[in-house]
Order: sequence, then structure tokens, then C-alpha cells
Amino acid sequence: MNSDFLKYQAQTTPHPLAMEISYANGSYIYDSNNKAYLDFVAGISATPLGHNHPKVISAIKKQLDKYMHVMVYGEYIQKPAVELTKLLAKNLPSSLEKTYLVNSGTEAIEGALKLAKRATGRSEVISANKAYHGNTMGSMSIMGFEERKQAFRPLLPNVKFISFNNESDLKHITKKTACVILETIQGGAGFIVPSNNYLQKVQKRCNEVGALFILDEIQPGIGRTGKLFGFENYNCIPDILVTGKGLGGGMPIGAFTASSKLMDLLQDNPKLGHITTFGGHPVIAASALATLKEVTESNLMQEALEKEQLFRKLLVHPLITEIRGKGLMLAIITPSSDTANSLILKCQEAGLILFWLLFEPKAVRITPPLTISNDEIIKGCEIIIDLLDEIQQQ
Ligand SMILES: Cc1ncc(COP(=O)(O)O)c(C=O)c1O
Repeated sequence: MNSDFLKYQAQTTPHPLAMEISYANGSYIYDSNNKAYLDFVAGISATPLGHNHPKVISAIKKQLDKYMHVMVYGEYIQKPAVELTKLLAKNLPSSLEKTYLVNSGTEAIEGALKLAKRATGRSEVISANKAYHGNTMGSMSIMGFEERKQAFRPLLPNVKFISFNNESDLKHITKKTACVILETIQGGAGFIVPSNNYLQKVQKRCNEVGALFILDEIQPGIGRTGKLFGFENYNCIPDILVTGKGLGGGMPIGAFTASSKLMDLLQDNPKLGHITTFGGHPVIAASALATLKEVTESNLMQEALEKEQLFRKLLVHPLITEIRGKGLMLAIITPSSDTANSLILKCQEAGLILFWLLFEPKAVRITPPLTISNDEIIKGCEIIIDLLDEIQQQ
């Protein structure tokens, strides 16, 4: 299987982890030798309820028995998509009431950028250094990491970059700006949380100049920061909210949400301003609906903050210089990329899944399912501390 994987399936790096998956359940993934791996990554924050959650599986199976794809997005009334968008609206401020469902995070970002251009008649987009919003052309254009995009130029024109949390950069947001797009918590950059009411100040500046304020919640969204959406922690409300990953409960999804007034612009002038075949897919929407119901009706959000405290209490070691992030979106910062690499690979060997962050080589990702138990957290942290001891002695 390994040689076929490398031969036939296109790869993203020359050295994929190449673990062969047999099945997954709860907080564990099992390889083809039936070895159990405790999952501290949740498919990069994409499985908030862990693996094969019974309520998600049951919703998917029920929908499979009724119908799968029947028509392109938006023409027919398909209950799972309607109920999902309605439940999102119920859990959002009233200005965020209409949701467009798409197939991935990057596609939702593309939709949000198009909506901002269409609504303002302006073309300038402001993003942040070290931002990551996806890998299609528009999303890559607003990625704040030149090294990874140089080979794909030319990209979108009129994109400017500011530094996250730097208030003096806000003067670059002007009446030429269509939108400012930020991650609520910068992920790839190293789980940088907004400080000093930064996001509120960005929103204020956007309002002053008539630019739209877009927040990318593809990672922090769906309960990970102790609130359903990260922005609820930071005294601000975006004009366009972009979600994905965890919303699908393990299925591929993306979504962007705005006021009806804004969103209705995509219907007209030009008509069909944004279209997709599979967006709002009934099986995926059923999975997302079951996930959203469980996250909003259980104590998982409150528990995310308690579990954060447990991680912070247990992860104390000379090779951990800092723990960044909020709730169950945490990153261990180590003294060097060698330490981070070594820890991730040794943990994998020991049956604990950790992962890298895109643009911060000294960081190690800890984004477990929200359903992880305290005992599982204790077990995983013991493995981390023991292996850091080993690395320190080398
Ligand atoms: C903050 C953020 N935005 C956008 C994306 C892109 O989402 P997708 O990979 O579903 O296209 C990601 C994926 O890692 C992300 O973390």
C-alpha cells in the first residue's frame, strides 16, 4: 500500500507521514497493524466531535437512505442545508443571518472576497503577514508568506499586507479598501491571539472607510475557543464570517455568512455571481447539522476552556518556552525547529498524534477533538513530557 500511495497519489511533501489508517473512533486513530494513536490534532481542527461520533454517523446514514446529490447549489429546497443555515443564524448575531455553503475553506474565502468586491465596487484587499486562508489563487494571493507563493505568480493584484496586532498599520485601511480579511486567531503564524482589542479596532476602522471586515474562523470556529466562534471572545462582529473544517464534523465543507442585504448581491448584476455544483451537499449538511447541534447543546464549549487549563498545567517543561492559543487551539513553542520535529516524530512513534504549524517551525500543534477526555489529555501530556525529557538528554 505504501508504494502505491507514493506512486499513484499526488503528494504535498517528499516525506509524508504515510501512516496507513485502518479505522478511527473517539479520540483514537488505528493503523493497519491495529496500533492505537491518541489524536491531539483532530484532522487539523476538523473533527470537533472526534472520530465516528454516533450522532454524526446516524445523521449521515439517515440522509444517505433518502438522497445524495440531486441538483446544483441553491435551486431545490434540501432540508439538511436549510436547517444547517438556519441553526447557524440562530447562533450568530442578527447581522449574520444568511449563509452560502461551499465545499472547502478556501472556496468560502474566494466567495467572501468576491462578495466584498461586489458590495464595495473596490478591489483592494488587505490581509495580514503570515496569514493563511487556503490554497486556491485568490486565497493564496492573500497568504502572508511570499516564499510559498512566488512560484505561482501572477496572483490577485491590489493585495496589501498589515501586521496582525499592530494598530499603527490600521492607517493603511482606506476608502480604496474593499475588505480587510484576518484570521480571528492566526493559525499558521503560530496561534497568535488578538491583543488589546485589536479586532474591535480593525472593525471600527473598516466602518469608518466603508471597507468590509472579514473574519476567517475556519480553524477557531465551532467551539474550539470556548465560544461557538472565536470572534465572540474579542468584542467584534465581522461583516462576513468564513467557516469550514470543524463545521463539517469530518466531512468537507466551507461556508460564508453575512447579512441578507450583502449576500443577496450575489444573485444579481451579474446574475449567478457565485455558483457551485456540490455546495450544500445533503449528506455533508446532515453531518454538519448534527455536529453543530451537539456542540451548541452540550457542555463542550465550556469544557474546552477547562481542558485548556489542564493542558497548561500539565505541559510544563524547560523545552516548552510558551503555550500559545486559546481553548483547544493550542501550540507548544519549543526552542528550535529540531526540537519541534523531534517531538512530533517521537510522539507519533509512541502513539500520540501531534502536527506542525505552517509558518512557525518551532511550534507544535495541539488541537484535539473537543470531546477528548481529561484522562486522555493526561495520558497524552505524559507522553509529551517524557519525550521532551529524552530530547533534552540527547
Ligand atoms: C485559517 C484557515 N483558512 C483557510 C483554510 C483553507 O481551508 P481548506 O483547506 O478547507 O480549503 C485553512 C486550512 O487549513 C485555514 O486553517
